[in-house]
Amino acid sequence: MDVEGMMMSEVLTTRVAGNIGIVEIASPPVNALSTAVRAAVIEGLRVHNADDAVAAIVILCAGRTFFAGADIAEFDHLPIKQPDFDALMTTAESSPKPVVAAIHGTALGGGFELALACNYRVAVPSAKVGFPEVHLGLLPGAGGTQRLPRLIGTGAALDLILSGKPVPAAKAAEMGVVDLLAEEGKLEETAIAFAQDVAAKGAPWPKVRDRAVAGGLDEIEAIKAKHKRQFKGFKAPGHIVQALEAAVTLPFEEGLRREQELFGELLISRESAAQRHVFFAQRLTAKVPDIGKDVPILPIRKVGVIGAGTMGGGITMNFLQAGVPVTLVEMKQEALDRGIATIRKNYERTAAKGRMTMEQVDKLMSLIDPVLSLDALADVDLVVEAVFEEISIKKDIFGQLDGICREGAILASNTSFLDLDDIASATSRPEWVVGMHFFSPANVMPLLEVVRGAKTGKEVIATVMKLAGTIRKTPVLAGVCHGFIANRIMEHLIVQSQQMVLEGVPLRTIDKVMNDYGFAMGPIAMLDLIGLDVLVHGASGRTLMGDFVAAGRRGQKTGKGFYDYDADRKATLSDEAAKIIGDFATYTGIAPDPGQSEENIRQRLLYPVVNEGAKCLEEGIALRASDIDVAAILGYNWPVFTGGPMFWGDTIGAATLLQGLKDLEGRYGSAFTPAALVQKLATEGGRFVNR
Ligand code: 3HC
Repeated sequence: MDVEGMMMSEVLTTRVAGNIGIVEIASPPVNALSTAVRAAVIEGLRVHNADDAVAAIVILCAGRTFFAGADIAEFDHLPIKQPDFDALMTTAESSPKPVVAAIHGTALGGGFELALACNYRVAVPSAKVGFPEVHLGLLPGAGGTQRLPRLIGTGAALDLILSGKPVPAAKAAEMGVVDLLAEEGKLEETAIAFAQDVAAKGAPWPKVRDRAVAGGLDEIEAIKAKHKRQFKGFKAPGHIVQALEAAVTLPFEEGLRREQELFGELLISRESAAQRHVFFAQRLTAKVPDIGKDVPILPIRKVGVIGAGTMGGGITMNFLQAGVPVTLVEMKQEALDRGIATIRKNYERTAAKGRMTMEQVDKLMSLIDPVLSLDALADVDLVVEAVFEEISIKKDIFGQLDGICREGAILASNTSFLDLDDIASATSRPEWVVGMHFFSPANVMPLLEVVRGAKTGKEVIATVMKLAGTIRKTPVLAGVCHGFIANRIMEHLIVQSQQMVLEGVPLRTIDKVMNDYGFAMGPIAMLDLIGLDVLVHGASGRTLMGDFVAAGRRGQKTGKGFYDYDADRKATLSDEAAKIIGDFATYTGIAPDPGQSEENIRQRLLYPVVNEGAKCLEEGIALRASDIDVAAILGYNWPVFTGGPMFWGDTIGAATLLQGLKDLEGRYGSAFTPAALVQKLATEGGRFVNR
């Protein structure tokens, strides 16, 4: 037996119950349809079709889920090996005996497509079905775009495929995708009984391919409009639309061929490679090489948050939503009341949109214990300090916590730039001190940088990395340095954009170059959104943003910053802003250079970000290049279809990057001095991201 054959026999079990043949696949963790699994399903169908005692066949999976789709890792090694998806779907669909898919967990992508190629689908209520391919820069390429519209209509199918969101089994049953809902825990017996019924009724058994497509091209236009924001920069949505158009205009077989063509184009696209990289990158961040499964995870039953301002409030909300009670500490009653009122207002706004009931709001609020003294933190398992970015204040608080908190409590700081080791030195237990760096708004942004100090204990890191999942954040581990990972690399983009503003480059041009790259918002518009006062807080000496703040131009919230804003937040250019910029440029003596090419602007903004990422790797601040990508994407909305700064750096190639940095260094100075790692990769021909 060859290797593939051996693997196939390991994942396949065929058995017979009465007159029903069962094809059971066990390929943990998610029964992805790898080459071996595809071969195994085909073999299982062959075995039962050859057995005269079998009248109908049930396909089911062992473990936590029905097939969760193609094995995404195989897409890095094209062409797809035989038996391919077409062979699998054709075998299932042309089976002489009726085939029933028995679904639990998540039938996604190729898994859902296999279910659609079967004659019938039975599912438990907790199951979900869907097409997440769009998130991987792909389309359902195993018949999904041709079969689904034949079951639920063109518009509904396009909506489901473009959204990428799985649909619960009950909804799928309503839509006509699932034929029978089985009682939870009774999937196999229900599917067997169902298969016996259909076998008894006799042929012909329904095939999705034989149905007419309901709904025409007009439905496609309406759904396209609904998802229009998804199209910019991404290649897959446009291809998905074309595949659905083919379902409407072409016979089934031709539609399938068109789908395969479009799928093939996406499979080799840069966008899909980038999005697949991000899929694996996001799952890798939680893995810390020197922290194995043997390191204990400590229970976090009660949390203390210090500071009820914007950050503290947002951080608190994360824990409340996870059902973890929070003792919220402020120094003054008024600030505490304001903080609590803001949290309640946020939840009430969600309730007003119908996404929460008022009872739920009250329940969440009841988990907060508002207090005015740090002494109340004596029994918490974790404290997150979120006060002013001022080292002396933070050290003072940690010194106090040292005397108050119980032994074994984790002491975390939400500092975004300060030296965590210095903060830890204010305690007698630096091994219990860690950084938990949230991004604003903390209840929304999905990134949590977990900062590992020189002495932070392994169980503390393991616990906080795990806790990130509980509060629905993606953790990225960072070492101690100014700005950790995301802020450290992205600071260059801000600094360079400011420099170019002073050189007289039009604000709109700077923003446009970054919009064209894929950012939803350019750097100047972003500064106005964050608030210039927030950004200059703590800065010493005269700064451009400081001059804006002094002139009452604090950003969008005051209706004016770098741009003027109308009531609809539409930005226009401002003479007053131009004068502030001109005056500051004169004050600093910066030489005007307004006519820079868009390419020069792009390189100036982005190359130093990649270069700084390389320095983070050299210094061991980031564990791996893909972590930096995740930090930039989740912390700064870096466009996903570029794969993040480091993956993008690989796309340009280290040699081009090195040359670009050297040119920029020659013109603009040491901010562009190439990192040793960039030089090394350029010489050796290596990549930042190695998977
Ligand atoms: N291929 C390869 N590996 C996969 C995978 C897949 N389709 N789905 C999950 N995995 C791996 C993950 O990388 C992870 O590996 P690790 O333990 O080494 O980190 C492991 O399985 C568990 O995954 P999660 O941590 O994500 O587990 P969850 O329980 O949180 O989520 C899931 C399970 C909902 C199935 C989620 O993994 C998921 O969404 N998977 C991707 C599903 C998908 O995109 N399917 C479509 C694939 S493309 C396709 O089918 C093309 C077709 O049209 C031809």
